[in-house]
Amino acid sequence: DDVVTRMKNVDMIELGRHRIKPWYFAPYPQEMVGITCIYICEFCLKYRKSRKCLERHLEKCNLRHPPGNEIYRKDNISFFEIDGRKNKCYAQNLCLLAKLFLDHKTLYYDTDPFLFYVMTVFDNRGFHIVGYFSKEKESTEDYNVACILTMPPYQRKGYGKLLIEFSYELSKFEGKTGSPEKPLSDLGLLSYRSYWAQTILEILLSMKPVGDNEKPQITINEICELTSIKKEDVISTLQNLNLINYYKGQYIVTLNREIIETHKKAMEIRLVRIDPKCLHWTPKD
Ligand code: COA
Ligand code: NA
Repeated sequence: DDVVTRMKNVDMIELGRHRIKPWYFAPYPQEMVGITCIYICEFCLKYRKSRKCLERHLEKCNLRHPPGNEIYRKDNISFFEIDGRKNKCYAQNLCLLAKLFLDHKTLYYDTDPFLFYVMTVFDNRGFHIVGYFSKEKESTEDYNVACILTMPPYQRKGYGKLLIEFSYELSKFEGKTGSPEKPLSDLGLLSYRSYWAQTILEILLSMKPVGDNEKPQITINEICELTSIKKEDVISTLQNLNLINYYKGQYIVTLNREIIETHKKAMEIRLVRIDPKCLHWTPKD
């Protein structure tokens, strides 16, 4: 695809209080290219070529949150669900903005088949976009995420994992397992591997032995049901962690002290979690 190989064409964007340097090409219209900075309304994501133009826009723009339904709120974190058909303009502008940080995804115009889940943090000025993921309304391959992005100013603070956790919470509500669309970027793969490992270890460590002197038992399928993580991702995670052995026709998982200690330390700093009780959502079909 020729879009992938095009040169980076935007020097800088301003989004709310953030100035952000793009990573990749995005097909903004010709009049936006070659200027020093693109000014983007942080609520409706419309773009302007100067601060003056954006100020004029802000006088009329009454949005203080993404369009669509707020389907989750806990503390200052919210999620909004946006239908790519009903809110086409917003969805297209979101894809355009996201493309600045995504190397290989090429979706920008046909947003109809997708839902967009935008995560925000709230303060007295409004609900500020932190990141999002998109999801096909119907996926024949059980994908539960198409694109996923944390805005650069918010990266490496745990928000990516929160987006991933939320995507699996939706899959749990749907009663399905899911997996992110391939190929994943390097950063995407790192984040998923870490999420899968922590989620599976959390389940394994919470298991109680069934009887005296007996080892706790769980099947791979049960792990899939409890987490909504797809079977091949569960198996590859256990293999990556070097925990799985195939013995007499069964998978045997053995946890060592080191892995347990590392896991516990990681969970102590992963303080913000998705609370399923705060999700107000029913899957559409
Ligand atoms: N270098 C090394 N590790 C990194 C990293 C980096 N630049 N960025 C994230 N990680 C690791 C973190 O250490 C963390 O693992 P840990 O908890 O085991 O330490 C894990 O990835 C998740 O970090 P988190 O802070 O929750 O993620 P994030 O908010 O930075 O978001 C992405 C992760 C992938 C969403 C973000 O990097 C991004 O938006 N990238 C650009 C778009 C993209 O590539 N999307 C995926 C493909 S569709
Ligand atoms: Na980013």
